[in-house]
Amino acid sequence: MTRPYNFSAGPAAIPNEVLEQAAAEMLDWNGSGMGVMEMSHRGKEFLSIYEQAEADLRELLAVPANFKILFMQGGGLAENAIVPMNLSRAGAVDFVVTGSWSQKSQKEARKYASEVNVIASGEDAGFTTLPDPAAWKISRGASYLHICSNETINGIEFHQLPDLKALGSDAPLVIDFSSHVASRPVDWSRVGLAFGGAQKNLGPAGLTLVVVREDLLGHALPSCPSAFDYKTVADNQSMYNTPPTWGIYVAGLTFQWLKRQREGSHSGVAAMEQRN
Ligand SMILES: Cc1ncc(COP(=O)(O)O)c(C=O)c1O
Repeated sequence: MTRPYNFSAGPAAIPNEVLEQAAAEMLDWNGSGMGVMEMSHRGKEFLSIYEQAEADLRELLAVPANFKILFMQGGGLAENAIVPMNLSRAGAVDFVVTGSWSQKSQKEARKYASEVNVIASGEDAGFTTLPDPAAWKISRGASYLHICSNETINGIEFHQLPDLKALGSDAPLVIDFSSHVASRPVDWSRVGLAFGGAQKNLGPAGLTLVVVREDLLGHALPSCPSAFDYKTVADNQSMYNTPPTWGIYVAGLTFQWLKRQREGSHSGVAAMEQRN
């Protein structure tokens, strides 16, 4: 079978090796007599898949120990609501708008946050340039600052994440890394929370990845649904409700594929960066 080049932004192409392994294990995962879609998420078989996926992702993205990895549902757009429901209690929420996705994010946050400020925007320039971080007017005591680290449609990518401390702010940086997660290393010292749908770079649609610093847990608005309260999700190892088991499994196979990638002396995500 010939597989054509597939440049869909998402759901996007998945490595052949991953699809072949998932197909081979469809009816019987590891001698269990069950396919992954049929397993209890609390059974020992799925728990081993989950733990391996979490550990591989932590290694691949070098996620520090004081960050939780959450496997959620709802995609990037649901996170536009879930982030402010969890993090906006402390004060104003700041947005840097560099394209259509961050534009959508700031609009959605207005439903939940008491104050939303667009502190820089590339709109006047037709979203062709990145507003200079030195000119961002970060709100005093902002509860967080949101950027889309790669604007999929408008093409604006932060090659380096802004250092908010150097800009005189203690606000945690929230990044929507949906469309370039795992294409380069992440400087976690600059990040409070990162989110992205899996369907572009990690696996099938239906799985949302959230990586959140522990001190940001436990501040959700009282109206936040329990299944979307990051602390509840973290305290229950992403199994407060039934997690997207198939998505976690296929993403886990992709994490192993990514770990096997080599480019010169580089491996994993660093190899992907070289290749890109
Ligand atoms: C940067 C970015 N954020 C958010 C989204 C929306 O994500 P979802 O469709 O998972 O809600 C997309 C694309 O679909 C995207 O490219």
